[in-house]
Amino acid sequence: MSDDPEEGMLSWDESVFRDEHVFEIDYVPETFKHRETQMENLKYALRPAVRGSRPLNVIARGPPGTGKTTATQILFDELTAQTDVQAVRVNCQVDSTRYSVFSRLFAEIFEYEPPSSGISFKKLFSQITDRLVDREEVLVVALDDVNYLFYESEASDTLYSLLRAHEAHSGAKIGVICISSDLDLDVIDALDTRVQSVFRPEETYFNKYDQGEIVDILKERVDRGFHDGVVDAPVLDRVAELTEEQGGDLRVGIDLLRRAGMNAEMRASRSVELEDVEAAYDKSKYVHLSRRLQELSDSESALVGVVAEHEGETAGDIYEAFNERTDLGYTRYSEIVNKLDQLGIVEATYTDVDGRGRSRELTLQYDADAVLDRLAGE
Ligand SMILES: Nc1ncnc2c1ncn2[C@@H]1O[C@H](COP(=O)(O)OP(=O)(O)OP(=O)(O)O)[C@@H](O)[C@H]1O
Ligand SMILES: [Mg+2]
Repeated sequence: MSDDPEEGMLSWDESVFRDEHVFEIDYVPETFKHRETQMENLKYALRPAVRGSRPLNVIARGPPGTGKTTATQILFDELTAQTDVQAVRVNCQVDSTRYSVFSRLFAEIFEYEPPSSGISFKKLFSQITDRLVDREEVLVVALDDVNYLFYESEASDTLYSLLRAHEAHSGAKIGVICISSDLDLDVIDALDTRVQSVFRPEETYFNKYDQGEIVDILKERVDRGFHDGVVDAPVLDRVAELTEEQGGDLRVGIDLLRRAGMNAEMRASRSVELEDVEAAYDKSKYVHLSRRLQELSDSESALVGVVAEHEGETAGDIYEAFNERTDLGYTRYSEIVNKLDQLGIVEATYTDVDGRGRSRELTLQYDADAVLDRLAGE
């Protein structure tokens, strides 16, 4: 050890990060461990498409942050690069109606946006299928976060159109992968019977990673993202432990690593210590919440805000406050309550109000201050 007090300290032009980009949300990892079975299942279902036949349909389920989107993205990138198959992933959080799902498909296939002047669904649909038939191409559609189509009651129509495409447009070959992280949702059961009768999907389950697997996967990020010796084994173990505490969602672990790295830099330290991880956890543990709040509409956010501000008050008072803020009536209010309940942001339970029938009590599923901070854009 030298006596130099600057040793172990970062200078301005130094960083603990080798490549901070590996901690970003849309980074596709170079290696994808512990998902061999799921990848095999998906490949098995998609293989007919490569031979020019209609692929098998799939339901991929599992808790948040278990690699469902990544698995699909990796396979779709391979298909697009190596075959003539058209593979399109639709984020149903963003495109949550049948019309917008098909607009997205159109945009991806034709490489330009459909006319915004209000082309009919029928026309949009037949332009897509005509093109597939003309070019003898097979289309694979991943409806990612398909649960959002259910919350908007658009799932049955969307699936029906996709699954019956070959009947309406002879020769069109389309396969569907439905991805859901809502474990309370039984996808098949929640569809109309007319859809159930044409939907016999393969199923593949993305189980939670255990702590050893989390360490193994995050080690790879650490090696790519940080300089040598910045994150040692006990620190990585702690990150994995906290990730497990948050349901094994790898996003928590990745976010923890990035924030802990930034905390170390703030202390001008060359290494990430346990204290940096603990300090980061206060923010990182809310990655689910942030992600869910981001995609809400203005009126949905307004209701979350009202519930957070009026915690513990009666359902009646909450509705009044919501109505005052948004001018929306009881029907819309009820619909939004249902959606927020399905998303796990609030819990709506029926309670008997003596003699006056039942009313719905709303309880926030997260810390109210954490919710309000995030709504305020922090
Ligand atoms: N086996 C793995 N190897 C490397 N990185 C992984 C692995 N599994 C997941 N990840 C990373 O974890 C993060 C979350 O993964 P992903 O988005 O695929 O989860 P998901 O199952 O789609 O979650 P959600 O249901 O919330 O959408 C991503 O940043 C991804 O790169
Ligand atoms: Mg996903």
